[in-house]
Amino acid sequence: MNKDRLEIAVRRLRPDEEEPDRLPLRWSTIARLLAFTSPHRLQRNALLGLCVFRAMALPGLAWLVGHIIRGPVAAGDGAAALRDLALFTACFLIADFALYWRIRLAHQIGENVLRDLRDRLMAHLLTQPLSFFHARRHGSLISRMISDIEAMRNGIQNNFFITFVSVGQMGCAAALMLLANPQLFLVLLAILPCLLLVHAFFRNKILHASRVQQETFSRVTSALAETVQGIRVTQGFAREDTNAGIFTRLVQSLANNVVKTASLTSLYLPLLELNAQGFMAALIGVGGWAALSGTGTGLGDLVTFFFLADLFFSPITIIGTQLSEATLAMAGAERYFRLLDTAPSWADRPTAVPCPPLKGEVEFRDVRFAYVAGRPVLHGISFVARPGQVIALVGHTGSGKSTLVGLLAKFHLPLTGQVLVDGHDLADLRQETLRRQMGFVFQQNFLFAGTIAENVKSARPEATDEEIRQTFRDLGCLDLIEDLPAGIHTPCSEKGRGLSMGQQQLVAFARALMADPRILVLDEATSAVDTLTEARLQVALARLMKGRTCFVVAHRLSTIRRADCVIVLADGRVVERGTHAELLALQGAYAGLHRDFLSATT
Ligand SMILES: Nc1ncnc2c1ncn2[C@@H]1O[C@H](COP(=O)(O)OP(=O)(O)OP(=O)(O)O)[C@@H](O)[C@H]1O
Ligand SMILES: [Mg+2]
Repeated sequence: MNKDRLEIAVRRLRPDEEEPDRLPLRWSTIARLLAFTSPHRLQRNALLGLCVFRAMALPGLAWLVGHIIRGPVAAGDGAAALRDLALFTACFLIADFALYWRIRLAHQIGENVLRDLRDRLMAHLLTQPLSFFHARRHGSLISRMISDIEAMRNGIQNNFFITFVSVGQMGCAAALMLLANPQLFLVLLAILPCLLLVHAFFRNKILHASRVQQETFSRVTSALAETVQGIRVTQGFAREDTNAGIFTRLVQSLANNVVKTASLTSLYLPLLELNAQGFMAALIGVGGWAALSGTGTGLGDLVTFFFLADLFFSPITIIGTQLSEATLAMAGAERYFRLLDTAPSWADRPTAVPCPPLKGEVEFRDVRFAYVAGRPVLHGISFVARPGQVIALVGHTGSGKSTLVGLLAKFHLPLTGQVLVDGHDLADLRQETLRRQMGFVFQQNFLFAGTIAENVKSARPEATDEEIRQTFRDLGCLDLIEDLPAGIHTPCSEKGRGLSMGQQQLVAFARALMADPRILVLDEATSAVDTLTEARLQVALARLMKGRTCFVVAHRLSTIRRADCVIVLADGRVVERGTHAELLALQGAYAGLHRDFLSATT
């Protein structure tokens, strides 16, 4: 496999590869993020106070050392020296105590903000119509919720406050140096540009290298995930060697990139140190000469200067690291806010009313619909279903069956035309109140991670275990569920893994029956189950449908035969309608489909 194909193969799984993972700092975004600290303003303001204190504390201590040397030590006053030592000890204990609270409060605020960010996003996602989720990869929504918000955590908890303290510390140190000895301060100013140059040069190179390294790393994880998730396909198509080859090359390139970053860092740090040592040498030279020649610079000044200079230089690397990490947080924040700002493409009208108790009549009046503008998938669909009738929808794949039932559930709005239940236009009804009177069994049974009972309960949270058993009994299949290791409390992982296809369908039926809906929408699963299970499912299905208006996207002949009306769809149009017998007699589209059904099931 050549390198390009290798990259394509691996990149497919990476979410948001088109999105930059770093962005320059933008004040409006920072301000918006900081606004999330407002509900915790007491803590935040205390924290800012602590930050200001921390910024002054260490330079202040350094200054105090100089003061002790210049004063009591130079004068040989032991008692005063001891007293000042006690003061010094008290000061650094207070400074350390402040550091403890600074870190602790930053973490508390960070966690609170994170929780609020996640709550906000979740609430926002839940207001979005189905089309929103169709238009996005689930992976990208998950990375907004997980990694982007994590990146923002670092931005709030560390980057912001540490930079704040570090810049403050540099400022205080500089001010005190200037105050203590303007002459020596000039030495500092002379050496500073060299330092900043080295810093800027290497920072960019290291940033770039570590970005490449991260990219390779995420490719390694994607490749791993792809191999594990697709292990059946890998083994089935005997692709083990190919996949192992891709992996080897990726791991090698990761190793190369790590070494590259490390070699840059290993050059950068000594150069920085060289600069700082150069500064110290210059300081000793200039300061020592000044002290010896008695120009007023004392030993105390020199010591103060050494300490202060260190407090001035050491934050430079810290600030650099924090700012570069902040660009990660910034990219995360921008993506997060963009998602949060995505208005729903449609919502219930403000005048929408709760759905009244339904009898179950459904009417489609000349309904047209398109997922993508200009590419209609349903054209002028009209029909009426009386309460209690079973309507079977048949048609080739892509003919619009699922779309039609999606419109009935108000998952989408018709482009033109109306969908009515008991004479009420769905456009005038509140979605959730409508769906409460509807039951769904989807084409892909989705079960939540939890037990069978918990899944059935999602239709009616207050249901008791006995009611759940009764539901399975009503479906005529309690024995099948009781045979499972823990009966109705058997766990199923998300998407129902751990249960067979037939068992998953039964749980989905029970969930729908538990809701006791007036209108039942059933997108029959096409998955094959053995004939015995199939017979049991048929019984369960018949019981589930009894006495309700049912829309069944049918793949089973038995379901179609039972229908009061079969609607045949082709390319988004109703081409035939009638009972199974009537349609067979027509010898048209349905007869053709029927032949396919028969040949598929024999
Ligand atoms: N989310 C979507 N975005 C864009 N087009 C879509 C979307 N979902 C379905 N379509 C298109 O709408 C048409 C009807 O799809 P639909 O899912 O309703 O078919 P179906 O009859 O249920 O097919 P199947 O029997 O395979 O389930 C198809 O051409 C399909 O490509
Ligand atoms: Mg479908």
